[in-house]
Amino acid sequence: MPGIQAGEGEKRRSLHGHWSSRMAFILAVTGSAVGLGNIWKFPYVAGQNGGGAFVLVYLVCVLLIGMPVMMSEILIGRRGRRNPIATMALLGEEEGSSPRWRLIGGMGVLAGILILSYYSVIAGWTLAYAFKSVSGSFAGAGPAEISAHFAEFVSSWELVGLCHTLFMSLTILVVARGVERGLERAVRFMVPALLVLMLALLGYSINSGFFGEGLAFMFTPDFGKLTGDSVLAAMGQAFFSLSIGMGAIMAYGAYLPEETSIMGTSAAVVTADTLIAILAGLMIFPLVLANGLDPAEGPGLVFHTLPLAFGQMTGGVLFATLFFVLLSFAAWTSAIGLMEPAVAWVVEHRHRSRAEAAMIIGVLIWALGFGSVLSFNVLSDITFIKGTIFDNFDHLTSNIMLPLSGVFIAIFAGWIMCRNSTAEELGGAGRLYRLWRMLARFVAPVGILLVFLKAIGLLPELS
Ligand code: PFF
Repeated sequence: MPGIQAGEGEKRRSLHGHWSSRMAFILAVTGSAVGLGNIWKFPYVAGQNGGGAFVLVYLVCVLLIGMPVMMSEILIGRRGRRNPIATMALLGEEEGSSPRWRLIGGMGVLAGILILSYYSVIAGWTLAYAFKSVSGSFAGAGPAEISAHFAEFVSSWELVGLCHTLFMSLTILVVARGVERGLERAVRFMVPALLVLMLALLGYSINSGFFGEGLAFMFTPDFGKLTGDSVLAAMGQAFFSLSIGMGAIMAYGAYLPEETSIMGTSAAVVTADTLIAILAGLMIFPLVLANGLDPAEGPGLVFHTLPLAFGQMTGGVLFATLFFVLLSFAAWTSAIGLMEPAVAWVVEHRHRSRAEAAMIIGVLIWALGFGSVLSFNVLSDITFIKGTIFDNFDHLTSNIMLPLSGVFIAIFAGWIMCRNSTAEELGGAGRLYRLWRMLARFVAPVGILLVFLKAIGLLPELS
């Protein structure tokens, strides 16, 4: 394979360059993990699934399934040093199994393409809301006005389509520029800045008078509300939010220097991602309850809640603009991760330049995205299985494709790869290694399977 040296005794190197430091990798993986999933999706899915019990299942999934799968993905990626499809094929053969493991890489690449097609539409909303904020559209507005504003905005497919186009163009631009120059720079300032702004918003929420109610909504589990679908949604959300099960983290792992600790890095990323999701919930639910909004209203939730809060606070125009700009940045760094596996594949297998590959894949995703653009207006009445085209794309990818690849990734790292290979990547066979191996071999695959069984109604109710 051109550009990849895999000579005997010599470590493989990636064709696409390497991260300049451990910190750069942590930032990039965090940038991919932290995105609309934490701030836009987590609160609305938690709201739709009744709060407390959902949050608890989510946390259990992150710890027992998310963490070992993330470590597995990074170690597979670093060992293979190619795009996810080629890496799975290569390691499958090297470990004495079959190159057909490439199909798992393939499913990941496909999931990334499908997810980005609707992710970009919602990211387009955040861009639009950044513009609206700066022009003072929300100043002093009440709940009814904000709702009407949102409804009017999403009803225009031209406007939503334009924002989606703008966002996809920005994503193609960064991906075309390559690993270090594009990805690293985009992430370095975004995560810390977003965190600071969220803490400020949390302060506002605490003062809303409904903080206790918000806390209770998020942390008092009512297991009666835990249906098969909501357990599946919690697991799907864990995969989505951590960016695992689709090869994005595997692709990033391919650029990771040899000496970086995979365990330490995964722990840092999982902690940051989870804290930011919880923080988002804590800042949003008190405001939802204080303003008599419906926690279960769906994808519009943050676009209703936050403008309302910004509209009433001093300096709200500035805060709102900053917030939506930062959220667009967070979405941007995640979108880069969603595109990377497909682009790396086209570069390596179709022998195109990075820029060409980014263009080809980007245009394909952009076109697919119109299914979701139209789901909120022209085609909103077309519903099947789980709802609109957007709902079905989201359900199919987050709740089915990502966990399904997750099962295979865990099985591959836990059962197919030999002990020596995984121990070498994870820095020795100590206690933590054994814990990871047990989680990857048994807990994660069985856990995911149980959730699937529960979702199709084959397990009894919990209460
Ligand atoms: N984790 C991102 C978020 O929470 O917004 C979404 C995502 C990015 C999923 C990259 C998958 C991925 F590969």
